[in-house]
Amino acid sequence: MIQIDEANNLVIKDGKRYDIGSPEAFKIISDVWIRSGWDTKYVYSFAWMGRPVIQLPEDMIRIQEVIFDIKPDVIIETGIAHGGSLIFYASLCKAIEKGKIVGVDIEIRPHNREAIESHFLSPYISMIEGSSIDADIVSQVGKHVKENDTVLVLLDSNHSYEHVLNELKMYSNFVSIGSYIVATDGIMEYVVGAPRSAPDWATNNPKKAAEDFVQENPDFIIVEPKFPFNEGQISERVTYWPSAYIKRIK
Ligand SMILES: C[S@@+](CC[C@H](N)C(=O)[O-])C[C@H]1O[C@@H](n2cnc3c(N)ncnc32)[C@H](O)[C@@H]1O
Repeated sequence: MIQIDEANNLVIKDGKRYDIGSPEAFKIISDVWIRSGWDTKYVYSFAWMGRPVIQLPEDMIRIQEVIFDIKPDVIIETGIAHGGSLIFYASLCKAIEKGKIVGVDIEIRPHNREAIESHFLSPYISMIEGSSIDADIVSQVGKHVKENDTVLVLLDSNHSYEHVLNELKMYSNFVSIGSYIVATDGIMEYVVGAPRSAPDWATNNPKKAAEDFVQENPDFIIVEPKFPFNEGQISERVTYWPSAYIKRIK
């Protein structure tokens, strides 16, 4: 277990001590916090402008930094659920006066559809129902994208390796140079053994799909978007989305 001693050191199981003000201590505490948050379903406790959003707020702030930087014409998201993330991206589009959202989900439950369609941000949102890797669905998504649009893609549907790899192959064509396709929830690799996990998550996860995708696709690299502001000592994201930001470089 971890403890803090009288001298404000973090003391971990093997007796190692880290100054509580060090980046190393922050990383250990963050990893423990992420795992505890997984077990307690902390990410299932937020809403954005009235709609439940199943995201770590840290990831929402970081993707906001990226969206403000690249100012996409179109944001495509697979995985709608209650619609909170669609509403979040729509609110950013309204604030920066640019962009629209296309969401895809295999099942848009009637009460979620109704709540999203009656939301004041709905003019920014189009929804398509069907599997994100169905060629016809991908072609419907494509109708929302014009030549030379700046396009950002977020993959947050089925998080199996196979599904995400297929999504990466099918949706990467939409991504403009300098923008990203984001394979969310690679955290699965780190929560094997936790509640609601499976043993094969060590490799059956979006992070591995992202890593394998860039091996085969030299136009894309996995990068950490630069923090636009940082006067602190922490330079790594606290995230459910490790190795998620896949940037199109050519
Ligand atoms: C993690 S939730 C999405 C959360 C949402 N993006 C948010 O931030 O609140 C995953 C969603 O993916 C959808 N889904 C699962 N398999 C899918 C598939 N093959 N194609 C499209 N959506 C799928 C589920 O129905 C579910 O609503």
